[in-house]
Amino acid sequence: MASWIIATNESELKEGEPADYEIGGKNILLIKKDGEIFALNNNCPHMNCPFTGGKLEDHTLFCPCHKWAFDIRTGEYLVAPRLKVEIYETKVEDGKVSVLV
Ligand code: FES
Repeated sequence: MASWIIATNESELKEGEPADYEIGGKNILLIKKDGEIFALNNNCPHMNCPFTGGKLEDHTLFCPCHKWAFDIRTGEYLVAPRLKVEIYETKVEDGKVSVLV
């Protein structure tokens, strides 16, 4: 069963700069974009590269290995949306970011 786990202070996340965290035994990428916080499994479904260091353009994250592009809001691979990265709910309370894992 999923539970909320505190990941970090919101102030540590920089707008548009993905950062990876170990949360509940999973490697998860947190991305602050336009004030919202998105959380994705940090493991590309193509060949399992971590997304760490991948470039973000608007809400599209490019895997650093072979540039596959994913929508951080849905986890969908843009070329074939049925292929998805797992995404997680997030919330901010008292300046702390929590992820439902
Ligand atoms: S491992 Fe991500 S695009 Fe190939």
